[in-house]
Amino acid sequence: MKALILSGGKGTRLRPLTYTGAKQLVPVANKPVLWYGIEAIVAAGITDIGIIISPETGEEVRTKTGNGDRFGANITYILQEQAAGLAHAVKTAQPFLGDSAFVMYLGDNLIPDPLHDFANVFKERSLDALILLRAVSDPTAFGVAQVDGAGRVLKLVEKPKNPPSNLALVGIYFFSAAVHEAIARIQPSARGELEITDAIQDLIDHQRSIEARQLQGWWLDTGKKDDLLEANRILLDTRLTKVVNGIVDDRSQVLGRVQIGEGTRIINSTIRGPVAIGANCHIENSFIGPYSSIADNVILREVDLEHSMLLQGAKVEGIHQRIVDSVIGQRAKLTEAPSRPKALRFMIGDDSHVELV
Ligand code: TTP
Repeated sequence: MKALILSGGKGTRLRPLTYTGAKQLVPVANKPVLWYGIEAIVAAGITDIGIIISPETGEEVRTKTGNGDRFGANITYILQEQAAGLAHAVKTAQPFLGDSAFVMYLGDNLIPDPLHDFANVFKERSLDALILLRAVSDPTAFGVAQVDGAGRVLKLVEKPKNPPSNLALVGIYFFSAAVHEAIARIQPSARGELEITDAIQDLIDHQRSIEARQLQGWWLDTGKKDDLLEANRILLDTRLTKVVNGIVDDRSQVLGRVQIGEGTRIINSTIRGPVAIGANCHIENSFIGPYSSIADNVILREVDLEHSMLLQGAKVEGIHQRIVDSVIGQRAKLTEAPSRPKALRFMIGDDSHVELV
């Protein structure tokens, strides 16, 4: 079995972060989202992995992720010239996939369940597709499935106004080579994309064997800011172990599960875990509260923050209100005004969000 990870796309919902980088590389608990997916696939014994990349962010994904050695995998990068849909990505990857069965994994999705059990169901039951479903409170925002008592999929609808169930399609699918014939038969949707839901519906219409399994645990799609913070919270809660490699001075307190990378200095500050801090950061006269991730080369002085993510090279100084629920992008600066008049001064990137009280 092979794997196909989709790490292209436009990432419009995560602007402005996605103007300068791939959303799949945004670090969650200080590790790129994409890498959790690669690790889950390798843990299921699948090592032949194709990664779909876009012309805009592909080089960054390739350079950071490499040829797969670090994961014990063999990675092939596949350029999708345009983000023309999930099924279009599969079509683009057809030369890599050949007639092999494969797991398709959206590069910004995360689940805690091992893929192994699902891969076994798919193989043992000789399915053409196995889809994963998760009960959600607002199905109208998702692909939704109607399933019979035996787990057979009867119907799929994309973002329905009147959902047939509350079961949303999770971004992890198993397919036989039959999906390529289905993709060849479907037409682009109203939004101009080749939809994977249409391809699966086509398989259903051609009486292929398609089943679903329901996830009981969490499912995260890190395509939006709040989902990113939630993914960060859950991963810090469930996966973080205490490792302190940096220097913590004797006026500082490090409480609970906290990771501190090499070359980082903590001066007269309190860090209350779970918190992940990368390498070569400078943190002084500050409080870093639970569920925060600070990437490499971040500078924080006179700052109180919690439940926030600071990306590489960000600098925050002299902010006298607590920062919460925030994502601060690479090299972004948030500092105290140096001169009078006492006023707010901004240089904010396109599509940014700022909330002031
Ligand atoms: P989406 O999050 O559905 O699409 P997107 O990345 O374009 O984001 P937005 O809606 O905010 O503009 O895509 C799910 C995953 O699949 C994500 O990792 C990007 C990837 N993808 C591709 O690789 N190729 C594509 O053509 C599309 C649509 C998505």
